[in-house]
Amino acid sequence: MFKTTARIVKKDLLQRGIYSFVLECELIAKSAKPGQFVNIFIEGFTLRRPISICEIFENSFRIVFSVVGKGTSEMAKWNVGKNVDVVGPLGNGFKKIDSNEKLLIVGGGIGTPPLLELAKRSRSARVIIGFKTKDLVILEEDFLKHGETIVCTDDGTYSKKGLVTKFLLESIKSDDFTRIAACGPKPMLKEISKIAKNFKIFCEISMEERMACGVGACLGCQCIIYKDGKKQSAHVCKDGPVFRAWEVFL
Ligand SMILES: Cc1cc2nc3c(=O)[nH]c(=O)nc-3n(C[C@H](O)[C@H](O)[C@H](O)COP(=O)(O)OP(=O)(O)OC[C@H]3O[C@@H](n4cnc5c(N)ncnc54)[C@H](O)[C@@H]3O)c2cc1C
Ligand code: FES
Repeated sequence: MFKTTARIVKKDLLQRGIYSFVLECELIAKSAKPGQFVNIFIEGFTLRRPISICEIFENSFRIVFSVVGKGTSEMAKWNVGKNVDVVGPLGNGFKKIDSNEKLLIVGGGIGTPPLLELAKRSRSARVIIGFKTKDLVILEEDFLKHGETIVCTDDGTYSKKGLVTKFLLESIKSDDFTRIAACGPKPMLKEISKIAKNFKIFCEISMEERMACGVGACLGCQCIIYKDGKKQSAHVCKDGPVFRAWEVFL
């Protein structure tokens, strides 16, 4: 983990209120793993904002974020050339990809960006990404570069109509997938965990919790997990954000 400066070298608007930044920072790029995040300092705010690492390059990394409040509104004003104060890479990411695995990657909404680097490293994963509506669809072309990608919208305004879980079930029934990796809203993750359990497929989910320190020191992101059936407390920032599905949803 480093506290360092990263310079914005690329800024793109992906959809209204959804931005992509590529930040030049060799230290983080060289040590980050898929599923980890960075904690970003914004002038005028005491608490840093956690944002997932979406893609990792030779000397830079990419983040994709949605404007939801004051901090992310400030970030949206940043431009190429700005030096950003970041801490990272933080947390536990996804398990390393094994060449024998048949991986299914499932993302919902703004939970989709943390899965891109995993898809890139897998090369043969099937990706299912779902959004409420057409205006929120992001990263389709990026995922398509790395393998088969199914895009769905809840209201059918773009691509296939339906929830990601519908296409997840279809995929599981038609092929022998051995692993699932998912990120998105909690109800989606709960349903995916249930499906994975029913079909006995190893499943990891990336969780989100309000955070403060980002390094396990403040109890700000405490959650309950189950290990060997026993309840215990964990920190999403340090023990996660990626957990085994049935550690979170029994
Ligand atoms: C591990 C992790 C990875 C994340 N990755 C992404 C990502 O890749 N893209 C993206 O768009 N968003 C991501 N988020 C959510 C993002 O951190 C929040 O949207 C952001 O902090 C909101 O800040 P704000 O000042 O605009 O909102 P406000 O609501 O004004 O924030 C007030 C406070 O609440 C905290 N907070 C608010 N919402 C969240 C949240 N959902 N999670 C954690 N803290 C929150 C803020 O950090 C701040 O301290 C991630 C969250 C976590 C925990
Ligand atoms: S954010 Fe402080 S313990 Fe996780």
